[in-house]
Amino acid sequence: MRELQDQGRQWSRHAARYDDLFLDAFQPGVVNPVLGMLDAVPEPGRKTVADLGCGVGPLLPHLVGRFGRVIALDFAPGMIAHAQARLGPDAERVTFETRPMHDLEHLAGQLDVAVAINSIVMPDVRVIDRTLRAIRASLAPGGVFLGVVPSVDAIQYHTMLLLDQALDRGLTPEEAERSAAFHAEHHYYDFAFGRFAFRGLRQKFWQSFELEHRLTKAGFSAVELDRVLYPWDENLACGADLAQYPQSWDWAFRARVS
Ligand SMILES: C[S@@+](CC[C@H](N)C(=O)[O-])C[C@H]1O[C@@H](n2cnc3c(N)ncnc32)[C@H](O)[C@@H]1O
Repeated sequence: MRELQDQGRQWSRHAARYDDLFLDAFQPGVVNPVLGMLDAVPEPGRKTVADLGCGVGPLLPHLVGRFGRVIALDFAPGMIAHAQARLGPDAERVTFETRPMHDLEHLAGQLDVAVAINSIVMPDVRVIDRTLRAIRASLAPGGVFLGVVPSVDAIQYHTMLLLDQALDRGLTPEEAERSAAFHAEHHYYDFAFGRFAFRGLRQKFWQSFELEHRLTKAGFSAVELDRVLYPWDENLACGADLAQYPQSWDWAFRARVS
């Protein structure tokens, strides 16, 4: 719990500069299949949706006015405050909750759709498993869980492209590896366990097999994976030089409660 409270404080601290520091899965130029998954929900006006780990709220404009009831939850008060300010008068149409995502008993069986965009990132996998079970229990039978998790294999893909580029420039293998590791910021990552530590934040990064495994273990069925595709732009190291290659990604998913 102490670790979770610390992370809540850290996320709050980063709320003001969130957009400068993190990729936004909804910014123009990003291909995000979650938007299509939301469009495919029948009769949204009669349904309840929850944005779990809403952050500064980039998903909320896609939910307000479309779904009958919108809940936005985050354990970081700073994030909730920014999400409310960004939404303006529409904030009144959203129920905001400041609480950790494993604490959903009050919503048991009430949600039709739960969405988690890059927010299932707790560094302790026991907390992740507990959170996924809580999300499943918050969904009504037939409910869907949609989301995005940060991909650790995309960092390795980016590293491969940077390594080739450095070798093509004539660097030795050792120099090329050092250059690729520098530009891909390997010092923030633990690749074996899929972790990322940055300015006090500690986040889980995912492989697709772990996502399937943990969703199934939590009792979800019909797990489908897809990719959020990011343009090679200034948000990714040396992005402009990599434009001819397939895009980098995060993992998107849809899972059901039967
Ligand atoms: C990387 S940000 C993503 C925010 C937002 N969903 C977006 O797409 O921009 C992760 C968010 O999840 C929240 N978060 C992380 N772990 C959480 C937990 N256990 N309970 C509630 N919120 C959590 C953080 O406070 C942060 O706002």
